[in-house]
Amino acid sequence: MKAVEERILSEKAVHAQGQTYHLILTGQDLGTQYPGMVIYTLQIIAGEEVIALFRTNTYEYPPSSPIRALAVIQSRSEEWEQELLSDPTSFRQSQERRTIREPDNVPTHEVLIIQGSPRPAGNCSVLATWAQEEAGRADVTAEVVYLDDLPIRACIGCYQCYNTGTCIFEDEMTGIIRSISDARIIVICTPVFTNTVPGSLKIMIDRCQAYHACQVLTGRRSGKKGLLFSVAGRKGQENFSCIISVIDAFMKNIHIKPSGSLLFDDLDRREDIRRIPDAEEKVRDAMKKVLMDMDT
Ligand SMILES: Cc1cc2nc3c(=O)[nH]c(=O)nc-3n(C[C@H](O)[C@H](O)[C@H](O)COP(=O)(O)O)c2cc1C
Repeated sequence: MKAVEERILSEKAVHAQGQTYHLILTGQDLGTQYPGMVIYTLQIIAGEEVIALFRTNTYEYPPSSPIRALAVIQSRSEEWEQELLSDPTSFRQSQERRTIREPDNVPTHEVLIIQGSPRPAGNCSVLATWAQEEAGRADVTAEVVYLDDLPIRACIGCYQCYNTGTCIFEDEMTGIIRSISDARIIVICTPVFTNTVPGSLKIMIDRCQAYHACQVLTGRRSGKKGLLFSVAGRKGQENFSCIISVIDAFMKNIHIKPSGSLLFDDLDRREDIRRIPDAEEKVRDAMKKVLMDMDT
């Protein structure tokens, strides 16, 4: 997938203290992803160097707001032009370069196991441990993230990630997105809480919107595979319908290919997943299969 094309909307040359600065306003139409979404970018270029960059997009402004993205960026363009004309040196010094930021390329683990239950010694922890051990047996590094241990702010729907490819909040999600970006297999272990995923997992899923935005802006995706392991207290596979739909949407959003799921019900009665005779074998087999297919 290619990054969305940028169209030049206006270009202006500003001459100040013997130097020419080009103020360039571009627009990227993301209407195929989100109806009506346009990302506007204003850049000042001196020679080959981008000395200032500002982005805004139409989804940042709620319907009842009188502010519109195009008006914001046009007014920023006028402000910058005036500042350049009056004092280009201090204008340059005041600008912090802002571009699209992709997750840092710090090698983490090949398998990322996200443990969504708040119970550190519950059934999902057992599932996560089996999954991690199986990766270890295949000589593949695996990290388990216990979401409930991490303070992560909920997404506030500001849509600023579509300007930068990153979230405005810098918290534990920065590391999680780095791990997701680096891993080749993502395993979600989750209990059913009120028919859906627990709150901390839902918060993490929503915050992955920034990673989705980064993929949209850069056009870069990778062929990751995803597994879902889930447990429900009540008896019946229908208890997992919302879990399946939420995790499917999550994987689709950030281009993870769903590669299997195991859904264990009736745990209120059985209490401990280790008492279900074939549970461990099923988890290990699912892991073996996905690890074998990791490169395809
Ligand atoms: C707040 C809460 C809500 C729950 N809601 C459901 C539910 O809607 N359906 C269900 O089948 N089980 C429900 N359960 C039961 C859990 O899914 C079950 O106890 C599971 O084994 C917990 O997993 P864990 O041991 O990994 O924490 C709920 C449990 C809690 C604590």
